[in-house]
Amino acid sequence: MSWENTNVLITGGLGFIGSTLAHDLAELDASVTLLDAKLEDYGANPANVDTIRDNVTIVEADLRDVKDVAPYVTQSDVVFHLAAQLSRTVSNENPATDAEINCQGFLNVLSVAKSATDSPRIVFTSSQAVVGRPASLPFDETTQAAPLDVYGANKRAGELYCNLYYESHGVPTVAVRLTNVYGPRAQLSNPNYGVINNFIAAALRDETLTVFEPGTMKRDFVYVRDITRGLRCLGFEQRAVGERYTLGTGDATTIYDLAEAIVDTAGSGSVKLVPWPDDWESIQVGDLRSDPSKMCDHFDWEPETDLTEGLVETIDYYRDNLEAYL
Ligand SMILES: NC(=O)c1ccc[n+]([C@@H]2O[C@H](COP(=O)([O-])OP(=O)(O)OC[C@H]3O[C@@H](n4cnc5c(N)ncnc54)[C@H](O)[C@@H]3O)[C@@H](O)[C@H]2O)c1
Repeated sequence: MSWENTNVLITGGLGFIGSTLAHDLAELDASVTLLDAKLEDYGANPANVDTIRDNVTIVEADLRDVKDVAPYVTQSDVVFHLAAQLSRTVSNENPATDAEINCQGFLNVLSVAKSATDSPRIVFTSSQAVVGRPASLPFDETTQAAPLDVYGANKRAGELYCNLYYESHGVPTVAVRLTNVYGPRAQLSNPNYGVINNFIAAALRDETLTVFEPGTMKRDFVYVRDITRGLRCLGFEQRAVGERYTLGTGDATTIYDLAEAIVDTAGSGSVKLVPWPDDWESIQVGDLRSDPSKMCDHFDWEPETDLTEGLVETIDYYRDNLEAYL
């Protein structure tokens, strides 16, 4: 597959997954623009693109302002729409902000794409949060949506916007549900950025990784390079247009085992079980494990990096670039 000279826009391009995708695409000689609002406490980190700064265009703009975003969407062949408010806790405490970014921001991208002479393909990153507590596992792109938080509800809205803009307006959209993604270039210093990032930060600081009792809850942790390889298929392959997919490993690891693996890999930190805080129980979803078969069937996509290897690469990266992340 060739990306050479393809005009690619990555919204949220200074964040974790967006910047990793930017590294891949810059290497493939795509013409890459990164659009990011650099909102405080979100995932944007200029250090994420230090080594490709001369090969990409960086635009500071907020998706909520359609006129600032329109020219970049219009000029693109493919838009990877990764910009988002990610915290489930923040989404419940401040639902309006989540809706402004995750719904209105996305609608701005889609409406510009609709009115463009040649609509760009839009790849939308949804989340396992849309399935809530599924009746059975593994879940996939057909699993009924039953979100337990505002973030999941708004990601579900994004999936439906994709259907609508494809079916009614001919915009070539693709949606993909992601599981728990980990790897280099994530936000480590904000406690709202997920369990794996909190654990890595604690281990690197030689602190205690607190696991809520009994620590047996399972999650499907997938390495970021496997995700960006999947996203590239979805941005390129004709078969993906109008479809929805799931990207995860199909495997699951307990939170306790994850904590132990991080401490072992880092050679620092320790693991402690603690009781659940009251306010977290209501949004807990139990075990989650994905079924990415449709990605395998359509594109021969399979996860290539196991958790052990992925954690070594991740922790090595942060150790080499510590001051940019902690
Ligand atoms: N990381 C995961 O485990 C995970 C899991 C499921 C889905 N996703 C989805 O993948 C996408 C990327 O996630 P990530 O982990 O890279 O997050 P991230 O926070 O690292 O990156 C998101 C970026 O979006 C930018 N942004 C936020 N609001 C914006 C706005 N209004 N205008 C412009 N830019 C804005 C932020 O500044 C940030 O750089 C998100 O859509 C997220 O919902 C991520």
